[in-house]
Amino acid sequence: APSVGFVGWRGMVGSVLMQRMQDEGDFRLINPVFFSTSNAGGPAPSFAEGAPALQDAYDVDTLAKLSTIVTAQGGDYTAEVYPKLRDSGWDGLWIDAASTLRMESSSIIVLDPVNRDVIDAGLSRGVRDFVGGNCTVSCMLMGLGGLFRNGLIEWGTSMTYQAASGGGARHMRELLNQFGTIHGAVAPNLDDPASAILAIDQAVLAQQRNPSMDASQFGVPLAGSVIPWIDADLGNGMSREEWKAGAETNKILGTDTVDGGRIPFDGLCVRIGAMRSHSQALTLKLTEDVPLAEIERLIDSDNEWATVIPNTKEATLAGLTPVAATGSLSVPVGRLRKLEMGPQYLSAFTVGDQLLWGAAEPLRRMLLISTG
Ligand code: HSE
Repeated sequence: APSVGFVGWRGMVGSVLMQRMQDEGDFRLINPVFFSTSNAGGPAPSFAEGAPALQDAYDVDTLAKLSTIVTAQGGDYTAEVYPKLRDSGWDGLWIDAASTLRMESSSIIVLDPVNRDVIDAGLSRGVRDFVGGNCTVSCMLMGLGGLFRNGLIEWGTSMTYQAASGGGARHMRELLNQFGTIHGAVAPNLDDPASAILAIDQAVLAQQRNPSMDASQFGVPLAGSVIPWIDADLGNGMSREEWKAGAETNKILGTDTVDGGRIPFDGLCVRIGAMRSHSQALTLKLTEDVPLAEIERLIDSDNEWATVIPNTKEATLAGLTPVAATGSLSVPVGRLRKLEMGPQYLSAFTVGDQLLWGAAEPLRRMLLISTG
């Protein structure tokens, strides 16, 4: 069995990855070696029987003994350790959740239900770096892969509703503390049915604007609000998250090369107060007037996880929310209808667990593909 090193397995993405690997029995197929940036020599996790003590995640010689390294340690770690490893002559597989290497021409963005052909072609020409995609992009392509892969998308625009978890664990805690603080400020009035709602609203706003409210992670309060900017300001009116949507979508699909048939894909990325599932509302320009029933069939049958939600209020409320989608590998796709602009204009709404298909699952599956 191949020896596989794991770095960053204790963080949020890493923990979800470890849980999925235990659920699927993946550890039986490999010899895991666990690394730590702070606790080398400590005991290996109990779920991996027989694994050696924790190794130093900055020890290039130890890392270089492994055939595969899987990291969810973050971009700074990749930037520091990856070049040293390659410079040492290591030619193993590097499977990474961070965005650092994602757009390098030497790497492939992994989302095998959508781009297994790109992955296989890469493996056979000796590509060694496989990187998980941006969560929003991966969840969108898992849902709508059937339309992209059949060449039916002329262009697309996505308006996102991204959960706190995309920022990290501290962001999720901050959001919950904000909800609690706001509720605390008006709880007595809420309990009194005779109290005036406008007075309650005033008190909520005063609390949201109170400098004492902790908003250190997001910069401004997210609870009871939205933040229409995610990640860095690229200085051209675009956020980095918005740039990723077009760049990564085309790289995953293999349409990013010259004459590859790049699909314009652009929109606004917005943070909302959901916990760990990202949603997005899409407007898609189809290359032809495909009947809605055929569109639904293509989406639903593309992979075993994309699931069409009938475009009714009842089905939407039951199945097309972050609360409904979280914790499941299913990617619901709903609100499918032709728009007034014409028969080639399609709306869609999709939700995906940002930590499963958005982060851990494509890495887990890439590890399985590489171990044959
Ligand atoms: N950048 C994403 C977000 C998370 O902030 O929601 C991971 O791709």
